Amino acid sequence: MVRGERPRPTVPILRRALLHVQGDIRWQEPLAPLTSLQVGGPADVLVIPSDVEDVVQVVCGARLGKIPLTVLGGTNMVVRDKGIRGIVMSLAALTNIQEEDNQLVYAQAGVRLPRLMQFAFGRKLSGMEWAAGIPGTVGGGVVMNAGTHLGEIKDVLQAVDFVTIHGKRKRVDASTLSFLYRKTLLPRGIVIGAWMQLTSAAKETIQSSTKHYLQYRKTTQPLALPNAGSVFKNPTGDSAGRLIEASGLKGLRIGDAEVSTKHANFIVNRGTATAEQVLRLVRKVRDRVARKFGVRLKLEWKVVGER
Ligand code: EPU
Repeated sequence: MVRGERPRPTVPILRRALLHVQGDIRWQEPLAPLTSLQVGGPADVLVIPSDVEDVVQVVCGARLGKIPLTVLGGTNMVVRDKGIRGIVMSLAALTNIQEEDNQLVYAQAGVRLPRLMQFAFGRKLSGMEWAAGIPGTVGGGVVMNAGTHLGEIKDVLQAVDFVTIHGKRKRVDASTLSFLYRKTLLPRGIVIGAWMQLTSAAKETIQSSTKHYLQYRKTTQPLALPNAGSVFKNPTGDSAGRLIEASGLKGLRIGDAEVSTKHANFIVNRGTATAEQVLRLVRKVRDRVARKFGVRLKLEWKVVGER
């Protein structure tokens, strides 16, 4: 939702828009610590709504004040160095999770996928094992149809809890949505929660596939260093990691941004990388792969903010 060309919203305009918000409001908040790659500049204002009513207040305030509103993802998102103009909203305080009827689980957008998996495991519910080791949230997972080789969120998603850009709360049935590879086509608005249909299973079954999968990720991915997940989508019938490695790019470095030596489709922050270095590295990798294989890799990350 960020439109870089607009004039910077003034503090009085932002204050007016957020007048009725109860949650946390932080001015000029650095965003790098809130993102998994740990790069990027500040938000003009970061808002952490305390509940759904508060989300509605933020959405309506932003719309009436014609202020750009960005929902902070954090794990597959890269914030540019000059940060994000307007209002940045984090749904981190929306953390309710409950089992409704017949193994139907409702989780708010700020619930982290590992916590949802723990919750499901504790109730002997299967269906989320594919998410083992994905650090993102339910909201981010729905928006980008998060997934791995084992499955995707669309496999279990029943409905999405949604606030429209007009501030109306709506339950959107998953059957009315289109799911692409790492992208869900949603109406304009904010995902505030999701219903997922899980199934009963023995704890041992759930645990063994989760363990196996976590081990695979630990062995193949640089999970110990700051990263934002896979950089590029896999092209049809091939894998971005293979193409990047075969182009001889593992370990390629610009400043502290490095093409991981463990998995070529990851860029890691070796300390003090900037978004500019990371994005220059992305372009370099894309150009080299295009030159060698004639394949133009598409970014999986969402890049936001001003250069
Ligand atoms: N490969 C290489 N060199 C590398 C890395 C991978 O040749 O440096 C080859 C592997 O040998 C393998 C193939 O590429 O034959 C696929 O690699 P991998 O199994 O690691 O999976 P991936 O396709 O690179 C996808 C998801 C990951 C998810 C893993 C495991 C995408 C873009 N990425 O990676 O998701 O964890 O499968 O299920 O679909 C993410 O989306 O952020 C993410 C981490």
